[in-house]
Amino acid sequence: MSKIIATGSYLPKQVLTNTELIEQTGIDSSDEWITQRTGIKQRYFAAENETVSDLATKAASDLLKQLDDKIKSEIQLIVVATMSSKTPTPSVASQVQRALGIESAWAFDVNGACSGFVMALEIAEKLSKDKTGGYTLVIGAEKMSNILNFEDRGTSILFGDGAGAILIENDGEGLTGYKSQLVSIPDPENSICVLSEDLTKDKMSMDGRAVFNFVLRQVIPSLAEFIKQEVGTFDYLISHQANSRFLEIIAKKLKVDLDQVPANIAHVANTSAGSIPILLDELVKNHQLLLDGSQKIVLVGYGAGLAWGQISLSI
Ligand code: COA
Repeated sequence: MSKIIATGSYLPKQVLTNTELIEQTGIDSSDEWITQRTGIKQRYFAAENETVSDLATKAASDLLKQLDDKIKSEIQLIVVATMSSKTPTPSVASQVQRALGIESAWAFDVNGACSGFVMALEIAEKLSKDKTGGYTLVIGAEKMSNILNFEDRGTSILFGDGAGAILIENDGEGLTGYKSQLVSIPDPENSICVLSEDLTKDKMSMDGRAVFNFVLRQVIPSLAEFIKQEVGTFDYLISHQANSRFLEIIAKKLKVDLDQVPANIAHVANTSAGSIPILLDELVKNHQLLLDGSQKIVLVGYGAGLAWGQISLSI
């Protein structure tokens, strides 16, 4: 079977605590409000001249530096999940390919907002079945600071920048134990959207309460049903990091220990498509995830669309 053999991530240098964000942007808020309502204590913001493809490339480089050099030349597919790049074309994936010097690979982006990484993994997993060798690189990368509106205190305090990457070794049979369910539903209210007046003025807006209810009423029950029907017990549930309250509710609903629903939202905030692979890499680096095939994990991403997706696999 195919398997995930390595992970990597990149978080930009600039760290902003809640208090620093408030001081620098003039948002009418407090560290106490943000911490209590979201669990977020700080976020990373990329430098002005650092692009989404820079973040994605650095996450991929962090991954590749752990491996034999020849693996890079055998990457056949690069899929990047992102919603925040300022360059519609070439794709971020093509820019990563060029930056890393990968001679020949099929490279394209997926825009699935906060469900982007699970969508990218689903596509990569399906396409990898065509390949009896080589490697597939799947990246989630966001520069959310490109699109935040600091006049909207309910939204701008939630997000941060960053990227994470995984590498799949292909053998034509798909990932071990892979099961998935992806859903998109119409959202006439555009609960989360980026208004595109022109490429320099993109601004994100969100109805936080509507999104909160969507996660509670649709995503979490659907996840619970998926786990009941398709998964059973698991080692870790790696959720998109949108609000620590969601993680607590998920653990309660699934009747699992909160330790099985790991969190890094306190220090990275919501990095949209970057969120799941950044957390995966953190868990690999601190040896909670072993990448030896002995563990079962569930991934869940959710957000704009509205869309969500859940995937279980052995890792
Ligand atoms: N600081 C201080 N007060 C704030 C604030 C901020 N940053 N943002 C909103 N408020 C105020 C509101 O204006 C409102 O004031 P009012 O009662 O005087 O009208 C009050 O806090 C409560 O607002 P509400 O929106 O009901 O708060 P909430 O408990 O729903 O928390 C979110 C707001 C955004 C944290 C929460 O709705 C949430 O997490 N939603 C999901 C968003 C999300 O995860 N999006 C990404 C999905 S991928």
